Amino acid sequence: MRIGCLMPAIRNPFSKTVIGDDEPLCNQKELLSAFMLEARSGNNNVLLAPRRSGKTSLAMRLARDYRAEGGLATFADLSAVPSADAAADRIATALFASLSIDDKIFKKLSRLVTAFVPVITMNPDGSFSVSASASGLAKSGLDRLVSVVASLDSISSHSKTPLLVIFDEFQDLAMLGDGAQIEAALRSTIQHHKASYLFIGSRRKLLRDMFESPKRAFYRGATTRELPLIEPDEFSAHLVALAEASGAIWSRDIADIIVATAEAHTYSVTAIAHALYELTAPNAPTEDNLVEAINTAAARETSLFMSIYASLTPQSRTLLEALAAEPTRHPMAGDYMVRNRLTNAATVKKSLLALVNGDHIASDESGLVNLTDPLLKRWLNSRWSKLHMISGLSIG
Ligand SMILES: Nc1ncnc2c1ncn2[C@@H]1O[C@H](COP(=O)(O)OP(=O)(O)OP(=O)(O)O)[C@@H](O)[C@H]1O
Ligand SMILES: [Mg+2]
Repeated sequence: MRIGCLMPAIRNPFSKTVIGDDEPLCNQKELLSAFMLEARSGNNNVLLAPRRSGKTSLAMRLARDYRAEGGLATFADLSAVPSADAAADRIATALFASLSIDDKIFKKLSRLVTAFVPVITMNPDGSFSVSASASGLAKSGLDRLVSVVASLDSISSHSKTPLLVIFDEFQDLAMLGDGAQIEAALRSTIQHHKASYLFIGSRRKLLRDMFESPKRAFYRGATTRELPLIEPDEFSAHLVALAEASGAIWSRDIADIIVATAEAHTYSVTAIAHALYELTAPNAPTEDNLVEAINTAAARETSLFMSIYASLTPQSRTLLEALAAEPTRHPMAGDYMVRNRLTNAATVKKSLLALVNGDHIASDESGLVNLTDPLLKRWLNSRWSKLHMISGLSIG
């Protein structure tokens, strides 16, 4: 009996999450090879980049490549971490996972993590997971954090090449109530390390301050680099190639418009391409399809954008809307403030600082203050539209 045709499932090639180890990454080759060199040499680096610009994908790729040449790499996500204790737990779990690439390595090196013991569990599908359980040797959360960071050093000393340690959204640790104490304790532990650290973050002002302000514990503790935007030409070619590999022919013009609309912002380009592929594959998309896909991509972000918007003060919301409609070099100029219903310069100054700290806005080399996320800009500009469609009035 014929049950039907088994067609290979074609999947949307435009991933809206972190790029997997076997998926193609567009560009960033120079930065990747610079970081590889730094890791081998045991140096520390900071990578600053706006939200959803590709930081985690780049760091994961670095970890993959470093492992491929025989090194050990630990990736710990510290985003929104609630306490030093939770940070210790996340780092220990990530460390055990990175040691689990090999039985012998795991047995030999996991013993060096004295504040935690690994707990291996079997998942319903037969695969295994590892977690970390506090051993009781360290008494407080901060002690556990310092201890687990110190064990990164002992592990590194027992390895052929430095252990590469990646802390994603590292600034979130400093934002905790006892952030200053954590910073000071970590700095003295990390200072003499053999491991190579890569600190990543999207709240660029906060992270920069941690490493560049003489008052802070991590002052001059690492080299700071910015993640460059992907070159528009290269990004367009990448979109065309990904679509083609998944059975759709996209013109270069269509790809160029996507990249231009999204101002080459990595996630925004990907989200629009994702919506367009979903709407049209395997057919070639038209410009009308593209308009629809852009609107769909922005609408899909509504709950995220709404939560960002709602978390801001009313004054910051007014300023963000003004900057979305009219990016400017002088947000505190009298006529700009009047036009955009911004009440006074002191409030605008405070809101500017809050929006920069949250990395919602940034200024470019020319000083132009703009939103960091082009989709958020688009969403704000269309959401509370100053123009509403009407019917029923006879004019004239
Ligand atoms: N080099 C790249 N080439 C193509 N697409 C990329 C690249 N890097 C990231 N992306 C895509 O961009 C989006 C954001 O990637 P990623 O999550 O790595 O960024 P991020 O900066 O860590 O984001 P977040 O601020 O949310 O942590 C994802 O859709 C990912 O697939
Ligand atoms: Mg990330």
